[in-house]
Amino acid sequence: MKRLLFLQVTLLLLLALSDDVKGNGENDGQCKCGKDLALKPRPHSVSILEFGAVGDGKTLNTIAFQNAVFYLRSFADKGGAQLYVPPGRWLTGSFNLTSHLTLFLERNAVILGTQDSFEWQVIDPLPSYGRGIELPGGRHRSLINGYKLKDVVITGDNGTIDGQGSIWWEWYHSQSLNYSRPHLVELESSTDVVISNLTFLNAPAWSIHPVYCSNVHIQNITVYTPSNSPGTNGIVPDSSSDICIEDCYVSVGGDAISLKSGWDEYGIAYGKPTSNVYISRVYLQTSFGSALAFGSEMSGGISNVCAEQLHIRDSFTGIELKTARGRGGFVKDVGVSDVEMENIHVALGITGQCSDHPDDHFDPNAYPDISGITLKNVIGANISVAGELKGIPEDPFTSICLLNISLSMTSELSTSWVCSDVLGFSRSVSPEPCSDLQLPYSNSSSVCFSLLSPAGHAEAF
Ligand SMILES: *[C@@H]1O[C@H](CO)[C@@H](O)[C@H](O)[C@H]1NC(C)=O
Ligand SMILES: *[C@@H]1O[C@H](CO)[C@@H](O)[C@H](O)[C@H]1NC(C)=O
Ligand SMILES: *[C@@H]1O[C@H](CO)[C@@H](O)[C@H](O)[C@H]1NC(C)=O
Ligand SMILES: *[C@@H]1O[C@H](CO)[C@@H](O)[C@H](O)[C@H]1NC(C)=O
Ligand SMILES: *[C@@H]1O[C@H](CO)[C@@H](O)[C@H](O)[C@H]1NC(C)=O
Ligand SMILES: *[C@@H]1O[C@H](CO)[C@@H](O)[C@H](O)[C@H]1NC(C)=O
Ligand SMILES: *[C@@H]1O[C@H](CO)[C@@H](O)[C@H](O)[C@H]1NC(C)=O
Ligand SMILES: *[C@@H]1O[C@H](CO)[C@@H](O)[C@H](O)[C@H]1NC(C)=O
Repeated sequence: MKRLLFLQVTLLLLLALSDDVKGNGENDGQCKCGKDLALKPRPHSVSILEFGAVGDGKTLNTIAFQNAVFYLRSFADKGGAQLYVPPGRWLTGSFNLTSHLTLFLERNAVILGTQDSFEWQVIDPLPSYGRGIELPGGRHRSLINGYKLKDVVITGDNGTIDGQGSIWWEWYHSQSLNYSRPHLVELESSTDVVISNLTFLNAPAWSIHPVYCSNVHIQNITVYTPSNSPGTNGIVPDSSSDICIEDCYVSVGGDAISLKSGWDEYGIAYGKPTSNVYISRVYLQTSFGSALAFGSEMSGGISNVCAEQLHIRDSFTGIELKTARGRGGFVKDVGVSDVEMENIHVALGITGQCSDHPDDHFDPNAYPDISGITLKNVIGANISVAGELKGIPEDPFTSICLLNISLSMTSELSTSWVCSDVLGFSRSVSPEPCSDLQLPYSNSSSVCFSLLSPAGHAEAF
């Protein structure tokens, strides 16, 4: 009887709360893609063949791509244009895109990144990182680049962009890189970007890197790098807002989807968060990294992230938040729901102990603010560690919320939860979380934020 009453009171409380959440307007309608994806056909189209390109996998076509894009710039104010890449193997070094351009790869069209590092020029580091991620100083330009563009589409009929990154992984392992490795596609300070219907293979480092961008729609792509390729993150929205990632299959050596926003004092100074991110229906795999990662570079902040319908398999970590002293910034208002995990070492990881810093000038008193992290409706099979949650002693992470999570463990000897310097709420979580995560749920009102379905707070488990 007492229990029932408690439940009712909680329900009322939560209903009141859900009104609050609805009422503040901040998260209304965030849990979906911003804009509709109606791709208008371009009024003009030219084939890369018209620029002398040869699709034999041997001829270097960098100049052809550069010339084609240069030519198509003149159509920007005429509704834009399409650069058509027919079947063939089109070897190239780095090239730029332009505004109001569609790069279209026909089925069996493969753009191949050359393995000559001099065809990947060296450029300045990003201001929010202050240096290359792997080595101080500059970094190699990505294979396909956009800078300050508007209305760019990279699409096709399942064509392929293959970075042939193996040589870069070898240089990385043998420490013969002079600069940080390039990515496959990088769009910087651009808006209205669509990346769809393609396969991305063997990126030297990351596959898709929108940085300082807004309104980026990534749909129905496959991203693959071998599981032993070092640090090959898949899709990396970085200091970017209004990002939508749907129906993607990502299997890589690093983190599959990784949200970032700059590194320590550089990221803090640049101050550009990653916000309003929607992720849905994704299949993620990574043997050594995290399937969905926040950070560790998050110094510009990460907020309003809604991820649902995640399918995570054969991975080291399922969902992980990584940060450190010196990062500053924040990760707040994150809701992850409807997750299926199988064969995972650590289902949920939170760490405040990432030790890498860009240089010695980071501010050790710049603590990250971690709040409003909600994980709900998770079902997992063959999990070795349910959760490994380690905050920062001087800066405990105090608003973690776990709801309706059921993980079946690899063996009875499995460690279920390891917690330090974290506090949170949980409800219907098995195996039973550590006591730090068992604050009375009725107190969760200001904490258990969910972008997912505000009314969902009222669910009785
Ligand atoms: C590509 O864009 C970058 C940045 O705007 C510029 O510095 C570079 O010259 C461009 N390269 C070509 C070949 O147009
Ligand atoms: C996804 O892409 C494949 C080919 O890459 C295509 O056959 C399929 O129709 C696309 N699906 C959607 C929903 O766009
Ligand atoms: C797309 O292309 C990749 C690589 O060529 C291939 O493995 C995959 O089966 C293709 N998908 C579809 C739907 O055609
Ligand atoms: C690094 O620089 C040296 C000296 O210029 C050069 O021989 C080598 O090819 C460079 N390595 C890479 C991976 O570009
Ligand atoms: C992807 O391809 C499918 C099948 O061709 C097409 O219907 C859809 O519009 C394409 N979507 C995007 C976003 O390119
Ligand atoms: C359980 O997951 C581990 C990886 O964490 C894997 O090595 C093992 O094969 C899986 N067991 C089964 C029965 O699938
Ligand atoms: C709990 O999570 C499971 C797995 O995602 C889902 O099927 C079920 O509907 C959830 N229960 C409630 C009460 O939301
Ligand atoms: C729970 O909330 C009540 C009323 O707001 C407060 O008195 C109590 O200290 C809170 N308990 C915890 C553990 O925060």
